[in-house]
Formats: sequence, C-alpha cells, structure tokens
Amino acid sequence: MKIGIIGAGNIGGNLTRRLTALGHQVSVANSRGPHTLSALAEETGATPVTVEEAADGARVVVVTIPLKHIPDLPGGLFDKAADGVAVIDTGNYYPKERDGRIDAIEDGLPESRWTEQHIGHPVIKVFNGTYAQDLLDRPRPQGDPERIAVPVAGDDEAAKRVVRELVDELGFDTVDAGGIDDSWRQQPATPVYGLRAGVAEVTEALAAAPKERPAAHSF
Ligand SMILES: NC(=O)c1ccc[n+]([C@@H]2O[C@H](COP(=O)([O-])OP(=O)(O)OC[C@H]3O[C@@H](n4cnc5c(N)ncnc54)[C@H](OP(=O)(O)O)[C@@H]3O)[C@@H](O)[C@H]2O)c1
Repeated sequence: MKIGIIGAGNIGGNLTRRLTALGHQVSVANSRGPHTLSALAEETGATPVTVEEAADGARVVVVTIPLKHIPDLPGGLFDKAADGVAVIDTGNYYPKERDGRIDAIEDGLPESRWTEQHIGHPVIKVFNGTYAQDLLDRPRPQGDPERIAVPVAGDDEAAKRVVRELVDELGFDTVDAGGIDDSWRQQPATPVYGLRAGVAEVTEALAAAPKERPAAHSF
C-alpha cells in the first residue's frame, strides 16, 4: 500500500520502520525537508519527500507532528491522494508542556476535531496513546495473549476499516471507539491513554473516561 507519513519523529520514524518492513511503499516528510531524512531513508527504504508531496497517490496518510504545528501544514495537502484516502491522526494536546493554550480544545472540542478543521479532512484517531517504542517492541500475532489493543475513532467507516486492518497488520488489536465526537475518551489523562492491555480492558477503560478535562491536563 502507498502510505505517506508527515512527521518523522518518535512516532513517524517508528511507523516508517514498521510499515516499510511490512512491504508498504512509504513516503516520509518532516519540517526541514527531505535532505534531512537521508539516514531514515537509508535505514528503511522509505522515500523522503516534501510535506506537499507526502500524500501523493497515498491510500493512507499519517499526520504525526506536534499539535501546535498542525496549522502550519499547507492547504490542499490531500488533493493528490488516492480516492477515499484514510488520514490517521496520532496527535495529542499538551498545553503546558508543548502546545500552549488552544481555546477551542479547552472549551471541549475534541482534539482530533480541531485537527480536522485545520487540515480540511476527516481523520481516524489511533496510536495517540501508544508509546512510540511499543510500535517496535510490542507487536504480537493475532490471538497472542500479550497482544495490545488500541482504540480507533473516526467518522468515516470505510477509512476506519482500512486503518483497523493496517493496525492489525502492525501487530495490535483494535477497539472501535466511535466517531470523533467520542474521541475525547482516548485523549491524554484518560484511563485508556498509555494503557497496555487487551480488547476487554481497553473497552472498559474507554467507557470509564470522565467527561471533564482533567485539571492537570488543562492550560
Ligand atoms: N512520542 C510518543 O511516544 C507519542 C505517542 C503517541 C502520540 N504522540 C503524539 O504524536 C504526535 C507526534 O509526536 P512525536 O513524539 O512523534 O513528535 P516528535 O518526535 O517531536 O517529532 C515531530 C516531527 O514532526 C515534524 N514536524 C513538525 N512540524 C512540522 C510541519 N509543519 N510540517 C512537517 N513536519 C513537521 C518534525 O520535523 P522536524 O524535526 O524537521 O521539525 C518531526 O519530524 C504528537 O502530537 C504527540 O503528542 C506521541
């Protein structure tokens, strides 16, 4: 599958490693330009590209950059993507530590809905609560009792199906966490965030999420 990855840090770098190892054709971009990605390209066989090129022909695009930089992404990002492109959002809002105050999110807008509004495309929220290193260290085959499950939220059911299949291929179970209006249940400081557990426990943790934004995680 042709996959574009925007962001080549902890998550983007490790997804580039795993997805190329699985045989996917990966294009990867960062903010500084393709010439700064030669080591990752050499290691993985991925193609370093500009942000503007990352989605070209892609069936799946992963957006994995710090939330505060989302508004810097160029318009028309998905114009040349494959029809029905699934856009994965791994992002989290860290107001104190990284992103600064974002009023709409503080007022209750789900983080991924804010991202959708900026990039102009629906997203599938997944891996936002997964430790980057776990992408390398904890994939397990289907049925393995140690297999971790991750929540997947999004409004486009067809795109969600594509993403759930890809996550399964990456070695993780998935739990349907509903649409983006429900995706606050997997945001930072919720019970499921960072949880290493199987389908049953992840399902329970999603249900147990308190609606109020935890004070410790507000600006
Ligand atoms: N780290 C984790 O374990 C983890 C786990 C789950 C979710 N997340 C979330 O996933 C997102 C990415 O986290 P991360 O830890 O992978 O970040 P990171 O290591 O800081 O890497 C950020 C990447 O984004 C790129 N970038 C920044 N602004 C950009 C722009 N305008 N256009 C293109 N690329 C841009 C950076 O490129 P340059 O280096 O060239 O600036 C860098 O490659 C965050 O929202 C984070 O909260 C992280």
